Amino acid sequence: MAGKHYIRTFGCQMNEYDSARIAEVLRQAGAAQAAARPEDADIIVFNTCSVREKAQEKVFADLGRVRHLKRANPALMIAVGGCVASQEGGAIVRRAPFVDVVFGPQTLHRLPELLAERRASGRPQVDVSFPEIEKFDRLPAPRADGPTAFVSIMEGCSKYCTFCVVPYTRGPEVSRSFEDVLAELAALAAQGVREITLLGQNVNAWRGVIDGAAADFAELLRYLSDLDGIERIRYTTSHPREFSQRLIDAHAGIGKLAAQVHLPVQSGSDRVLAAMKRGYTALEYRSIARRLKRARPGLSLSSDFIVGFPGETDADFEATLRLVAEVGFDDAFSFVYSPRPGTPAADFADATPPEVKSARLQALQAALGAQYRSANEAMVGSVQRVLVEGASRRHADERCGRTENNRVVNFGGAAELAGRFAQVRITAARSHSLRGELVHAPD
Ligand code: SAM
Ligand code: F3S
Repeated sequence: MAGKHYIRTFGCQMNEYDSARIAEVLRQAGAAQAAARPEDADIIVFNTCSVREKAQEKVFADLGRVRHLKRANPALMIAVGGCVASQEGGAIVRRAPFVDVVFGPQTLHRLPELLAERRASGRPQVDVSFPEIEKFDRLPAPRADGPTAFVSIMEGCSKYCTFCVVPYTRGPEVSRSFEDVLAELAALAAQGVREITLLGQNVNAWRGVIDGAAADFAELLRYLSDLDGIERIRYTTSHPREFSQRLIDAHAGIGKLAAQVHLPVQSGSDRVLAAMKRGYTALEYRSIARRLKRARPGLSLSSDFIVGFPGETDADFEATLRLVAEVGFDDAFSFVYSPRPGTPAADFADATPPEVKSARLQALQAALGAQYRSANEAMVGSVQRVLVEGASRRHADERCGRTENNRVVNFGGAAELAGRFAQVRITAARSHSLRGELVHAPD
């Protein structure tokens, strides 16, 4: 397969990870170069997201925009992967017949075969099956792109929250073996990666066998933290239901574990949490947050929220605002509930007018925004350990890196700092980033 590929990614970090794997698979199959624009590509891949309605509709709008490119380049292949592909399957080809291949999150390694089959048969190919963990066995070794990397350690989700499509689009929870994860981390460390983010829709649901004994996510973290070269470990997204005391203790005992956890709560109302089937109460969530912050003083907590879930009352929403005020979040994503076809909540009665829902979202975002800004301002004057990722986006002579709590910092410093940890004093808080000055360059 010759030519250039263009990959457009929608949605979450799992999709970003998958897109990097898709690029690798295409590179190995011969489509080595990445095109800067869809116009220059021979294969266009949309890696899609269906978690909310807007994300889903965007895919068809974007597909419509590349359709005409086939006139100039009749050999052009258009492939749709990710969660919309998984959910819609063959319906995509019926709605957009110019699409050549539809593949799912668990069949991305088969993309070259599907493209070849499309060319040979002249018929669009659809494969959105869940062939267990075959994906990982068939993927090429990862290539590092800078000092930070994502490593997927489990796939899918078996929690079935009533609002969420992920269990249907990504299949059930399947953990990658300890040996595989370790080998991938070691390969990345050998290429200069210093910080790893372990990925999974429910990353702390990881289960495996280490040294012949059953092991959980906390145990995995202990083993991975022994690896030379990897200096900082993050993970996302974790689920409160599986946030064990052992995992909390890991935050006290493992120095390489970043003092930052993304722990989606969705709502502060027990009634809503039960209707969502989240499997915990607001009190249980508060208790995890309290124990985590006790285990690792200064730990920064971020979260996801849904407002306007079917049946959410003013009192339920007030409970969410109370939880936000009590727990304190350094960062957050918040959304208005979006009914997803095929999920139980899509059939729940929903009497709340849209304008009430958007007013709630605004109120919640105002509270979360204030916490985000005050967390930023509280960092001014402090000295932070920053992993330098490269040049800052705006000024090529400035460096850019991330703090323990995942804040972007821009500061003056030599290009040689890239890939190393530097001590940086925070001098100012901007709306989306921090400014700093170099205190100590690494040895
Ligand atoms: N397992 C992860 C979790 O529990 O957060 C990932 C789930 S989802 C990909 C990421 C976030 O999208 C969720 O935390 C939730 O806040 C939001 N989300 C999922 N389904 C949604 C829906 N139907 N409407 C609005 N937001 C939704
Ligand atoms: Fe979705 Fe709940 Fe799983 S939010 S990804 S069903 S934990």
